[in-house]
Amino acid sequence: MIVVAHRGSSGTAPENTMAAFLAAAAAGADLIELDVRFSAEYACVVMHDRSLRRTTNGRGYVHATPLALLRRLDAGQWFSPRFAMERIPTLAEVLDTLPPAIGMNCEIKTDGDPRSRIERARHLAETLQRHGRNRLLIVSSFDHRFLSILSHHAPTLALGVLLQPLRDISRRASRLAHRVGATCIFCSRRMLRRRLVDDARRHNLNIGVYTIDTPAQLLRMQRYGVDMVFTNHPEIILPCLANV
Ligand code: G3P
Ligand code: MG
Repeated sequence: MIVVAHRGSSGTAPENTMAAFLAAAAAGADLIELDVRFSAEYACVVMHDRSLRRTTNGRGYVHATPLALLRRLDAGQWFSPRFAMERIPTLAEVLDTLPPAIGMNCEIKTDGDPRSRIERARHLAETLQRHGRNRLLIVSSFDHRFLSILSHHAPTLALGVLLQPLRDISRRASRLAHRVGATCIFCSRRMLRRRLVDDARRHNLNIGVYTIDTPAQLLRMQRYGVDMVFTNHPEIILPCLANV
């Protein structure tokens, strides 16, 4: 089973920071998941929320803030004073810094950003092309239209569709994946059903589930036979797998 550190090792370090990614690599995670948004000038930055409020000392929205200003913000203090030096990473920085042996699942967040998908996809494709070689890389999103546009700019990228409970519960996941040429399906723990796993198997798609933070939850995933688990605590989940 593949272990993906969700927002890095976000249980032990501030989510989506270099500290969280390096902790995930040290714990032995196979991949890190990180959330990507676009600054005012379309630089790819690693940030979950569209608003700066929860995880930084800034105010306003990521898409309306220039990169230079984003880079000055403190992205660690909210978690613990120990991480006060952490900054919002750029995607390029993470790709350049992390050991190539650790894979990446870049989740693209498009909500709350009113700008053109085409322009954002173009900037993302360029960044991945320049910095993402020689590494296992999956690009995922709840925004399947964005994935479809991205695949025109970067036809060889591995894609994953994220399922949204309200929107996608009654749709066949394999169909959603095939529509954009994705090879992975990702869903939340609560959304997982046997028929979803069977559908993925029948169509040769990988299935990943978030977030799995306890041994009991992991055991349930093993019984379902899912391929990937996303966890905030790779330091708890990886030893459980080693003990099987
Ligand atoms: O990529 C899986 C998961 O991260 C999706 O939800 O809100 O944690 O980005 P969220
Ligand atoms: Mg995410």
